[in-house]
Formats: sequence, structure tokens, C-alpha cells
Amino acid sequence: MRRPLVVGNWKMHGTRESVRDLLAALLQGLPGNLAVEVGVCPAYVFIPQAFEQLQSSPILLGAQNVADREVGAFTGEVSAAMLKEFGCHLAIVGHSERRQFYNESDALIAARYQQAIKHGLCPILCIGETLKQREAGQTFEVVDAQLDAVLERAGLDSLAHAVIAYEPVWAIGTGRTATPEQAQEVHAYIRQKLAAQDRRIAENVRILYGGSVNAENAKALFAMPDIDGGLIGGASLKADSFLTIVQAAGETC
Ligand code: 13P
Repeated sequence: MRRPLVVGNWKMHGTRESVRDLLAALLQGLPGNLAVEVGVCPAYVFIPQAFEQLQSSPILLGAQNVADREVGAFTGEVSAAMLKEFGCHLAIVGHSERRQFYNESDALIAARYQQAIKHGLCPILCIGETLKQREAGQTFEVVDAQLDAVLERAGLDSLAHAVIAYEPVWAIGTGRTATPEQAQEVHAYIRQKLAAQDRRIAENVRILYGGSVNAENAKALFAMPDIDGGLIGGASLKADSFLTIVQAAGETC
């Protein structure tokens, strides 16, 4: 069975103080024996303090990106080995905000993903279509291309150590979430596509939904058979709503 996973993507938010307070509230509010895996991805600069605060806690630490190279003169990048040294287990790659605002290509994202895999970080590979692409009936084509670019480079077997996040761009930060049926349709498509190549990989890989998930809509989304948890933006910045979403995953995933 796939263990549900809920990850907070804190994006470019927070201060030293707010990060400390949010983590303290999460540590206090999480139930003792968690059925759900929970992770948080603060901005890079907060990772060291989060690492200290989360020592011997069940909350997984993650980064919002990872360098596509090993080491060297790559100004502004943070390597997988560095993230490992600071206790990271997860690394988001291919987030639509990276694709859209920083022109990250499928090839670059594949290289980032491969670095994560190589160093034992679990990449959370984000894929998803824009509104224009959905309206043009290109949703499956887009997720195919985004997924294929990565799997051609890193191999299908890498998915045994990775997580996929379906994040329709039109649902991110807009308050306009995909309906559970819309999300399930794409999740099922992704799983079937993978199953055609390797049934075991397809059955075991966790596919998260992301895009305006909140305390109210999480349960219905997580009740869908191929939705194994969520990648949460805005609603992960408040302990109450994030904890409600984690609880929903425990009850329904
Ligand atoms: P929102 O939950 O704020 O829509 O963001 C989703 C997201 O981009 C998570 O990576």
C-alpha cells in the first residue's frame, strides 16, 4: 500500500521567527503515531534552523529545488550533497513557478531530478498543464512530455525513490482547485501510463495533487483512488490548516 504523503511548499515566505513558530506548532499538533508522512520545504536559508528544530521528529525536511550539477562554479545553486548534509530528505523539482518564471526546461529539470536520485534525496517531480493547454485539450500530452523527459534520463526505476506531484498551473495559488474528478482523471492517466511499462513501479509510486488544496477541500481530493496526498502551498503556512489537511490524508488516502 502507498503511504499517504503531505508536503508543505513554503515558497518564498517566512522569517526566522515565523519558521520557528510554525514548526513548533506542527510538532505540537501532529498526532503521535502518524499514518501519514509529512514534510516541509522552507526556503533554503531556513533549512539549517529547521534541521536543528526537527532533529528526531517525524517531519521530513525538504528543499524547493536542487542543483543539476555536482559541485563547482554555479553561482546561486545548492547541491544535493549540501542539502543532505543539512538533513533534507525531499527536493521539489520542476515546480511550475520554476518552469514559468525562471525558464527551467524539461532537460534542466531532468538533470536536477537525477542529482537528487544520485544523492539519495527523494525528488518530488512536479508536472501539470496551463489553463491554455487544458482548454486546448493538451493536458495528457503535456504531462507525458514532462514525465518522459525525466524518465528518459533517469530511468523508470528511479520512480521507486521519487514522488510525482500533479499540479495544474491554473489551480496554483488561484483558489480554483481542480475538482476531485478532474485531478483523479490525470492521476489515473499517469499511473496507467507507468503501468504499461512496469506495473510494480506504477502501483507503488505516490502521486500527490497540488493546487489550492485547503482544509475544506482536502478530504474529497484525497478520497480519490489515485491521489496519495498533497503538495500544499498557501494552506501550509498556517499550522491549523496544514494539520487539518494531514488529518484528512490519514482518514481518506
Ligand atoms: P497553492 O496551494 O498555494 O495553490 O500552491 C500549490 C503549490 O504550488 C504547491 O507546490
